[in-house]
Amino acid sequence: MQESILIIDFGSQYTQLIARRTRELNVYCEIHPYNKIPDISENIKGIILSGSPKSVLEEKAPSIDLQSLYGKFPVLGICYGAQLAAFQNKGTVSPSDTREYGRAVLQNIGEDPLFAEFPAESQVWMSHGDTIDKLPENFEPLASTESIKIAAFKFLPNGNNQPFYGIQFHPEVTHTEEGMRLLENFIINICGCKGQWTPESFIESTIDDLKSRLGKEKVVLGLSGGVDSTVAASLISRAVGKNLYCIFVDGGLLRKNEFREVLTGYESMGFNVTGVDAQDEFLTKLEGVSDPEEKRKIIGSTFIDVFEREAKKIKDVVWLAQGTIYPDVIESASFDGPAATIKSHHNVGGLPEKMNLKIVEPLNLLFKDEVRRLGAKLDIPDNILKRHPFPGPGLAIRILGDITREKIRIVQEADEIFINGLKKSNLYDSVWQALVVLLPVQTVGVMGDERTYEHVICIRAVNSVDGMTADWSKLPYEFLGEISNDIINNVKGVNRVVYDISSKPPSTIEWE
Ligand code: XMP
Repeated sequence: MQESILIIDFGSQYTQLIARRTRELNVYCEIHPYNKIPDISENIKGIILSGSPKSVLEEKAPSIDLQSLYGKFPVLGICYGAQLAAFQNKGTVSPSDTREYGRAVLQNIGEDPLFAEFPAESQVWMSHGDTIDKLPENFEPLASTESIKIAAFKFLPNGNNQPFYGIQFHPEVTHTEEGMRLLENFIINICGCKGQWTPESFIESTIDDLKSRLGKEKVVLGLSGGVDSTVAASLISRAVGKNLYCIFVDGGLLRKNEFREVLTGYESMGFNVTGVDAQDEFLTKLEGVSDPEEKRKIIGSTFIDVFEREAKKIKDVVWLAQGTIYPDVIESASFDGPAATIKSHHNVGGLPEKMNLKIVEPLNLLFKDEVRRLGAKLDIPDNILKRHPFPGPGLAIRILGDITREKIRIVQEADEIFINGLKKSNLYDSVWQALVVLLPVQTVGVMGDERTYEHVICIRAVNSVDGMTADWSKLPYEFLGEISNDIINNVKGVNRVVYDISSKPPSTIEWE
């Protein structure tokens, strides 16, 4: 049975990081919101309670009955989780005089397996508004910092030998120098996890599971050219072979030559794939539409129409496969519901309901970097694995205002120059995402003796980990200069290039 760590989420911005760190130790884990904890199964070896932006002192503070967890397995409470234990056991928690935020030095560390092989002092990252002033009886302080007496504690509920640890700093954040060591001490040494959850073991168990779930039934999957759908297709095709039918739709909004190149790549990977040229259908429906959300809706619904039509040509399909990954699942399961919609990213949300098919999502427990690692083991070529993210609505949201074939041509040509330039200068892999945007303005220029009045292209490159936040890439001036020249000299209709130097937040990566 697969060992697992259960992470109970109280809403911390770092909860996903705790999961990622646990997975880095090759231990499987799941995040569940505090108000939707699943039945505790035998494979759970330990529990981690996350932090929270809330205070345990608030009237409607998120809470769980810790008593029900005591003594069953080791528990690690991080910040809020630690304060909750102190509070429920009649210790004192109060707002701290100075918000305990930022770097601090952990010291006076007691002898305990949680701190095995720790140096006498090390830097930790703190981020909490409350602090534990006084520990309940039977709680043993384990460490302090310059500003707080109780940076860590332990107690043995009911004298049992399954410890409860509380820490008032964040081991999951890289600023905590010994954070990984602490998590390893807890997860491997104290909880006794073996750390056998590797990409190879995941591939093997997933293919076995898919074989028994899908049997000889037919599966249909929409490929996008991106990592997630490709890895999902690779796993499923290893389980059911030609019973996986892949559909790759060209709505005319892909990068230049991408449709042909990606389709050929898929065929060489042995996928049973049909390419559908639906350019006219998409572009006709988009004619004269300028509003970004409207564009997204049209593209989403046209995709569903085309996909459904193609899928119906395959007889007796039972399953719809999707490349959904874990962050999408966690977001829709969080206790406040999905975060406010800034841009509606989930392009084909309505597809499963409409088609009345059973859903299979083999990646829905994985983070993006894990999907990439898996893809490498599945021999998916680098040009797909390392490809920058590309939005579902494609170039439609990079042409500000209405979309015409001429504008698509301009964006495709400029984009090709920029992306190929990054690759040639070995900058492509150091940038998280690069793109060009066609602005809805014309500016005056001069070419030879002629005055011109033409379009402006904006080039954008960002560094990011997950697209949630991003910083603009500091590309070399010489490189930017060459790209600007190449675009202006080679793309008819463009006489000016600008570089976007905004970060996210407050800007977003795409312009629409
Ligand atoms: P923003 O522009 O919100 O983008 O900072 C964050 C990441 O999401 C991509 N993106 C989308 N992906 N459908 C998608 O599948 C969309 O409608 C969409 N809008 C933005 C964007 O390219 C970036 O990687």
